[in-house]
Amino acid sequence: MKNLIKAIKEARRVGVLTGAGISTLCGIPDFRGPQGLYKQKDAEKIFDIDWFDRDPSIYYRGCAELVYGLEKFTPGPVHKALVSMEKAGCLEGIATQNIDMLHQKAGSKNVYEVHGSPILHHCRWCADEKKFEEICEMLRRGGEGFIPRCKCGGAYKPDITFFGEALPEKAFTRAQALAISSDVFIVLGTSLSVFPAAGLPRLTLQAGGKVFIVNAQPTPLDDYAAARYDDLAAFAQAILEEFGE
Ligand code: APR
Repeated sequence: MKNLIKAIKEARRVGVLTGAGISTLCGIPDFRGPQGLYKQKDAEKIFDIDWFDRDPSIYYRGCAELVYGLEKFTPGPVHKALVSMEKAGCLEGIATQNIDMLHQKAGSKNVYEVHGSPILHHCRWCADEKKFEEICEMLRRGGEGFIPRCKCGGAYKPDITFFGEALPEKAFTRAQALAISSDVFIVLGTSLSVFPAAGLPRLTLQAGGKVFIVNAQPTPLDDYAAARYDDLAAFAQAILEEFGE
């Protein structure tokens, strides 16, 4: 990790892209790793907008733990390492594909959630808005198989970007600006398999910056990275040793 630490300290601006891999260290499964969510039958329907409108129970059943059990999960070593970098003035911002809100829980300030988050939900028929906590309460009271519905009858959907939906414009625009302006862009715990988020590190390369990758499985950008490493826990430890807890 010495090369990566050196590059961070010498960089003008450092940006980061995180994926589900960093939250596996907190006990949250990723999608495409060996124990990933997508190993389950029909899992690709869980975050599909057409399936949600057809049968919202596929999402609510599939995410009972992953989304509505989030209060059980606490930030892991990579979340903490990124907070220490930000406090040391060595991190401009984090573009995250994750919807677990753990970067904010850890204390990171500049977080761009390019796949949205469940912090707000909206009715699919009248766009009535509910907060995450309100939906959690409705689900707790409703019990197994309950679908939170608006008084108009529409199902509440989280402001998570489902397959078939556009990304949140403001978050993605800021993530693009971060990638283009970073002379060091670090990719952490993502298979880089879902566009347009997976295109962010390419913007850094096109602008003449360096990309570093920390990911157990190979990614399509490995050959273009200045360096790649396998172990996120080792990355976090090296950063915390360098920049402090
Ligand atoms: N150390 C290193 N790498 C790890 C670790 C670890 N401890 N744990 C998991 N990984 C790696 C896996 O090898 C995998 O390549 O993290 C990567 C996670 O990749 P995905 O499961 O594909 O998650 P992600 O890239 O974030 O998915 C992108 O796909 O389903 C959609 O919208 C969803 O945001 C998500 C998007």
